[in-house]
Amino acid sequence: MSCPKDWPEPIVRVQSLSDSGTPVIPDRYVKPPPERPSAAISDNQNDINIPLIDLGGLSGDSSMRAVTLDQISIACREWGFFQVVNHGVSPTLMDQAREVWREFFHLPIEIKQNYANSPKTYEGYGSRLGIEKGAILDWSDYYFLHYLPEILMDHNKWPVLPVSIREVIEEYSSELVKLCGVLMKVLSINLGLKEEHLQNTFGGTNIGACLRVNFYPKCPQPDLTLGLSSHSDPGGMTLLLPDENVAGLQVRRKDHWITVKPAPHAFIVNIGDQIQVLSNAIYKSVEHRVIVNSAKERVSLAFFYNPKSDLPIEPVNELVSP
Ligand code: OGA
Ligand code: NI
Repeated sequence: MSCPKDWPEPIVRVQSLSDSGTPVIPDRYVKPPPERPSAAISDNQNDINIPLIDLGGLSGDSSMRAVTLDQISIACREWGFFQVVNHGVSPTLMDQAREVWREFFHLPIEIKQNYANSPKTYEGYGSRLGIEKGAILDWSDYYFLHYLPEILMDHNKWPVLPVSIREVIEEYSSELVKLCGVLMKVLSINLGLKEEHLQNTFGGTNIGACLRVNFYPKCPQPDLTLGLSSHSDPGGMTLLLPDENVAGLQVRRKDHWITVKPAPHAFIVNIGDQIQVLSNAIYKSVEHRVIVNSAKERVSLAFFYNPKSDLPIEPVNELVSP
């Protein structure tokens, strides 16, 4: 098991709790009533979804392009979240990435324990965030790894099994860095800046990128807990590959939690805290959380695209009024 001097208490894999077949979740996972899924601020709105945007429009004629830019602009201002299709990443690669990680989580525990993480860097296989003793925990396990900058990327901290996993992570990550580059240009243009502006304030090619793969096991009492507590993403921008067949992500919209209905082979894009700051809060870094269910496990890949870690971040001058 992982080193007891790193974490405040022994790490329990949520997957092993789920596999044990217990009908009752341990108290550690029971959220206080106001945080539970059904304690919606007001009623959940089931017929609403975050905007779905066809990025194919960016390479269309000038009016198509203008419409697409506008859709993205509205989504960044009003939602902080949107789905994109026709984004240029191969659907086969997307499926491979999700399924190879699903296979990883179904490997025997002894193999996964070789990658058990510590709170020093969080890299590897983990089951909690934070080291507060006695904290209420989320119903999920995860795997966290660095892709950029190159100096932080350590292949030894990536799994060796399933055999194709490292190759798939490499290809997937390099494709996602490209897509983030495209989106960074769009966001800059939409803010009235030069297209390279945001990328340059992120550090040009010296940006950070990391992957957090979330595994949400089936939960016998899904109404009492959350797969991931409410948070906003601290980095620049996130590209989430959800489990196409299992909903779970909820996005805060005013007084409601909107459950995202994933579109086939779409990425869910969201603005992180750093872009909220750079844009002088014209773009919103919106709170979100994950609910779990008793029927199906859920796998998601969150790819975080971040400014170089030691760059001070402040609102872009052009976006600040007197
Ligand atoms: C995250 C996240 C959502 C999901 O990893 O930061 O918000 O659907 N994940 O797994
Ligand atoms: Ni998040």
